[in-house]
Amino acid sequence: MCMVIFAPLFAVFAFALCGGYSGQITVKVECLDKTQSNISISFSYPFRLQQVHFNAPLCEGKRHETLFLEGDYSSSTQFFVTVSVLAFLYSLLATVVYIFYQNKYREKNRGPVLDCLVTVVFSGLWLVSSIAWAKTLSGLKTALDVGQMQLLMSACRDPENLCETLEEPAWTNLNMSVAFGFLNFSLWAGNIWFAYKETGLHKSGQRYPSRTPSEKRSSSFRQYSQSSFDQSGAGFEQRLYSQASFDLSSGSFSLPQTNLGPPMLYRQMGSPTSKGPLIFVNESQ
Ligand SMILES: *[C@@H]1O[C@H](CO)[C@@H](O)[C@H](O)[C@H]1NC(C)=O
Repeated sequence: MCMVIFAPLFAVFAFALCGGYSGQITVKVECLDKTQSNISISFSYPFRLQQVHFNAPLCEGKRHETLFLEGDYSSSTQFFVTVSVLAFLYSLLATVVYIFYQNKYREKNRGPVLDCLVTVVFSGLWLVSSIAWAKTLSGLKTALDVGQMQLLMSACRDPENLCETLEEPAWTNLNMSVAFGFLNFSLWAGNIWFAYKETGLHKSGQRYPSRTPSEKRSSSFRQYSQSSFDQSGAGFEQRLYSQASFDLSSGSFSLPQTNLGPPMLYRQMGSPTSKGPLIFVNESQ
């Protein structure tokens, strides 16, 4: 459920905040003879700074110089955006397959095993690309430091002229994109366990030891909650149908899941008078 909503959403945030970024630096140059000019330097994704150039006055009559920024920060940035876009597409595809092609997905356990492997791969990619992008971003901030910009211009290196920074680049979106990268890593890495459970491989070789009476209650509860958890995957369609039978008014796919999730279980456990399935399990043993 978490993966269905948050994985595509967080992936969109990660690549939109990074790929849609453009920043600007404005420096006011006031020469000794009081002639003023505002110099704007714009840069954007994928941060090939060696292609960014601007004209700066030399404060010697009307002469100008053309300056280029230095550094190519595109490789890690594009890697990060590529991973985000692929993760977004995969999580959409997985949702569609899971909901509409449930039978094909279960066939010979191929779907769950593939999903588990892809989840592991994407977790690794998210971690590596987020670290690389965070490192690149700190390099980018150093390269675009406003003091550094002023040192580039010969007019500003001359103390007779006045240089003032009017506009600094806003880093918020890029910082957030890094944060979303790491958030996505924790989401995908955390989901490895659930993807692994879906494969059913954990069941082979798992045996419960013979229980003592004092242990009985807690372990039967564990068994119950385990089987109810498994149902959330296997009986997905079944639950949809049962939901539809008593709540015809809800038309979307996400609503039934929300209504039939853990809250229903809590409600049964929470009220002391109701006889929930939990109590039946205990009595039957
Ligand atoms: C430069 O920008 C400042 C502040 O926005 C403005 O007051 C000034 O007139 C501008 N100078 C030129 C030459 O455009």
